[in-house]
Amino acid sequence: MSSPLRIAVLASGRGSNFAALLAARERGELAVEFVLVASDKADATVLALAQTAGIPTLVLNPRDYAERRDYDIALFDRIAVSKPDLIVLAGFMRIIDGDALKPWAGKMINIHPSLLPKYRGMHTHRRALKAGDAEHGASVHYVTAELDGGPVIAQVTLAIESGDTEDTLAGKLLPLEHRLLPAVVACIADDRLALGDQGIAFDGELLRKPLLWTGGKLVR
Ligand code: GRF
Repeated sequence: MSSPLRIAVLASGRGSNFAALLAARERGELAVEFVLVASDKADATVLALAQTAGIPTLVLNPRDYAERRDYDIALFDRIAVSKPDLIVLAGFMRIIDGDALKPWAGKMINIHPSLLPKYRGMHTHRRALKAGDAEHGASVHYVTAELDGGPVIAQVTLAIESGDTEDTLAGKLLPLEHRLLPAVVACIADDRLALGDQGIAFDGELLRKPLLWTGGKLVR
C-alpha cells in the first residue's frame, strides 16, 4: 500500500473545515496524514484543534516581515519542511504572492463560499443576496496567483430562500462545506483528481464543469 497523502492545512480562524477533515479521517473516509496546521494568527482556534489532535502547528506573524512577499516566501519555505503532498487552504484570510505559490501549482486547494466564478473575495453571502440570486454555494478550487480564480474542482449548491440573511446563508452553507472539502481531499488522496496542462482530470477524464456534491457524493 502506498503511504497516505501528507496534508498541510493553512487557516486563520475557527477551523471548522479543518475539524471536518479530521472528523472524516476519524470516520475512515479520508486516508491522509495531517503533517502541519499553519496560521498567520497566534490565537486562531484552528491551532488548538490541531494541538488537541496531536498535529504539529506553525504560526508565522505577518507583522514580523517588511513585505507581504517576504512573509509568503518564508511561510511556504517553512511549510515545505513538513513535505506535504497537498496544501489545503481552509479559511486562510490572506492573498498569497504568486512567486510563493509557484512550487505548489496543482498541489494547493482552497474552499471558497460562493459558486465561483461568482463572488471572488469577501462578503460572498451578502453579494449573492444583493444580486437576487436564486442559488448560492461553495467551491473547492486549485490555487493560482489569481485570487479565487484557479480551476474549480467541485461545488455544492443551496437554494436561497426568501427571508435568508447573510447569517442564515452562512449557517446553511457551512455544513455543506464540511462535506464538500473532505470529499474532494479524499478524491485527491485516492489519486482520482489531478490538475494537468489541459485542465482537471477526474478518473482519467477531463472535467468540463465542476463536480457537484449531491446525494452524498461527488458527481460529474
Ligand atoms: C469558510 O466559509 C470557507 O469557505 C472560507 O472561510 C471560512 C472558513 O471557516 N474560505 P472555518 O475557519 O473553516 O470555520
